[in-house]
Amino acid sequence: AGLVAPRWFRTAAATGEQLTSELPLPAPFGVPLPIPAVLAPVARDADADRYEIVQRQAVAEILPGVQTPIWGYEGTFPGPTIESRGGRTTIVKHHNELPVPTVVHLHGGHTPPEHDGYATDLVLPAGSAPHAHGGHALMHDPAALISHGSRDYVYPLRQKAAMLWYHDHRMDFTGPAVYRGLAGLHLVRDDEEDALPLPRGERELPLVITDRAFAADGSLRYPSIDPSLTSVPGVEEPYVEGVFGDVILVNGAPWPVAEVSATRHRLRVLNASNARRYDLALDPPPPAGPVFTQIGADQGLLDAPRAHEHVPIAPAERYDLVVDFGAYPVGTEVTLVNRLGTGTTASVMRFRVTRRATDDSHIPARLAEIEPLDRAQATVTRDFSFRGGMVGGRHGWTISGEPYSPSRIDARPRLGDVEIWRFVADLHHPIHLHLVDFRVLSRGGQAPGPYDAGRKDTVDLRPGEAVEVIAKFDGYRGRFMFHCHNAEHEDMGMMANFETV
Ligand code: C2O
Ligand code: CU
Ligand code: CU
Repeated sequence: AGLVAPRWFRTAAATGEQLTSELPLPAPFGVPLPIPAVLAPVARDADADRYEIVQRQAVAEILPGVQTPIWGYEGTFPGPTIESRGGRTTIVKHHNELPVPTVVHLHGGHTPPEHDGYATDLVLPAGSAPHAHGGHALMHDPAALISHGSRDYVYPLRQKAAMLWYHDHRMDFTGPAVYRGLAGLHLVRDDEEDALPLPRGERELPLVITDRAFAADGSLRYPSIDPSLTSVPGVEEPYVEGVFGDVILVNGAPWPVAEVSATRHRLRVLNASNARRYDLALDPPPPAGPVFTQIGADQGLLDAPRAHEHVPIAPAERYDLVVDFGAYPVGTEVTLVNRLGTGTTASVMRFRVTRRATDDSHIPARLAEIEPLDRAQATVTRDFSFRGGMVGGRHGWTISGEPYSPSRIDARPRLGDVEIWRFVADLHHPIHLHLVDFRVLSRGGQAPGPYDAGRKDTVDLRPGEAVEVIAKFDGYRGRFMFHCHNAEHEDMGMMANFETV
């Protein structure tokens, strides 16, 4: 059978109610916070750093004492972290040893189109018969670039320091592939950021937040009508809201605990969940000072820090936050809570403030230069609506009334032009543009909200609210995707193409 499915009939599932795990869940805050290993390059030459990653099946102990089959980059979930320098090319050879085709996208990377992980640019499983799967992709998209067994992804990374992430992006199957474990961090560093006195080393913590549910046998529950995707009996209707688990994982561990000194820490938070939004806060809040000081957004440092009492984060968004644990007495247990959660999803992880230590970090009033983008620079304004709709005779998701097709181009910005894109939505939809970074220009007809600052690549639309973003479409010519980053919405049609010309 073809592993590229007929559209929308495979990942389609359930109703958006939270899935319940079928085995006893561990008490929270018992597992130490793991930090994903930083991958060593296999070669560094004058102009590029080279890495190799094997995508393979593995068994992970996510819940203590429970064996969970996963799909992992290097067999781990999350995958290993890659660290690059801005402006220096990184080449990652991905080997596909999974039973299905894969596509790797570097989210937030300013990447040429042939390396961006277009949804039909499949890497077929090593050893699979050439036309077994590639033929289906080519049927959907004659322009698909099919590779056999492995491919080199080349990232020029002509961009500023930022926390990017890489994940699977196969047409119609991003949700189940990411849920099974295909996601990892890619940090870009540069001199501008290195020169700042920010917390670093063990005081810089990447936090990849996901939600999952587990079946009685320890496997991950992913509702689907495709038996190859762990189907849940009785679930046959197309999926509406997205897949929600009852276990919150940080860096792949359930409600972990991190011991921290009473000093400033930099928390680099990614919401890698398929569909869940969080609203993060600290319990107790610090006796003095802000709860969080935001220093960066999706695409890197802000111009100036911003204080927040809580931080909402939608799928694929990143917030770069500083927390001053020095404001707490030694011995305090500080819980990172989710104000949108109930029961098991109301807490995320815990910090245990264990000792005093000297802290010579501080947060400068000016963080980075950000090129201004002004309304007056825009040559074109485009409108897109994001709504539920009928797709292939079932409920799916659309952009301006259309479900995704690789062959339809909805916008052709001229290379180097500045454009304003106006979005409206029926529900929450975290909208992501490939290739570019953008600024939020307005929200609900008002100035951007408190969480809209800085250079972004994903913006959470709220029900009925119009959002304008402004972007310069520079870098590379070619076809790129934009889509909702609720992975189930994306798989069920809420994706489209633009082409820089
Ligand atoms: Cu994070 Cu088009 O993806
Ligand atoms: Cu992306
Ligand atoms: Cu959506």
